[in-house]
Amino acid sequence: MYTRSLLGFAVTLTLALSARVAFAQTPNLGKPISPADIAAWDINVLPDGSGLPPGSGTPADGARIYAAKCSACHGPEGKGGVNGRLVGGDPIKIIDAEKTIANFWPFATTLFDYIRRAMPWPKPRSLTNEEVYALTAYILSLNKLIGENDAMNAQTLPKVRMPNQDGFIVRFPDRTP
Ligand code: HEC
Repeated sequence: MYTRSLLGFAVTLTLALSARVAFAQTPNLGKPISPADIAAWDINVLPDGSGLPPGSGTPADGARIYAAKCSACHGPEGKGGVNGRLVGGDPIKIIDAEKTIANFWPFATTLFDYIRRAMPWPKPRSLTNEEVYALTAYILSLNKLIGENDAMNAQTLPKVRMPNQDGFIVRFPDRTP
């Protein structure tokens, strides 16, 4: 009995060791990725504005782009259509309440990040940075969070204060702007 379990242990150990060896080998597929390749995907924009690219756009510029590329789904002036509205939203009182940009999103920079990486829905990442700044400005202006003529860029956007910024329990306050 003792011998058998010792043998079992030896077999297990051998299998484990050979599995480790197999794991250490690579299949030699693909090619090394260059910093330039990574940069194209490294498009995070953080709440303090780091990662925002050069460029600038006004609500008026954004209104024109919105009519052409967004209103079919989000409705005229962001009021909602086939897809969610981008304007308005009652203060959140219950967990199931409708969450909108104005009543939920804590940081304005997220709007830039989200539009740039995800919209328009059928063609994500097709917008220029200028267009994304303009659309961000337009949506913030429709929500009366900035003035009608305020341009959004890497300097101004992080300064826009969102109504629900303090509505979250912050796990790491030291790391939040
Ligand atoms: C074909 C339809 C379609 C078009 C066109 C479209 N969107 Fe969207 N949009 C969606 C869908 C669907 C969602 C929800 C995605 C999800 O929840 O994952 C969404 C979500 C959003 C959100 C997040 C809203 C929220 O409160 O969570 C924003 C902001 C947004 N879109 C902006 C835009 C802008 C700006 C454009 C034009 C450049 C645009 N969208 C074009 C379908 C569309």
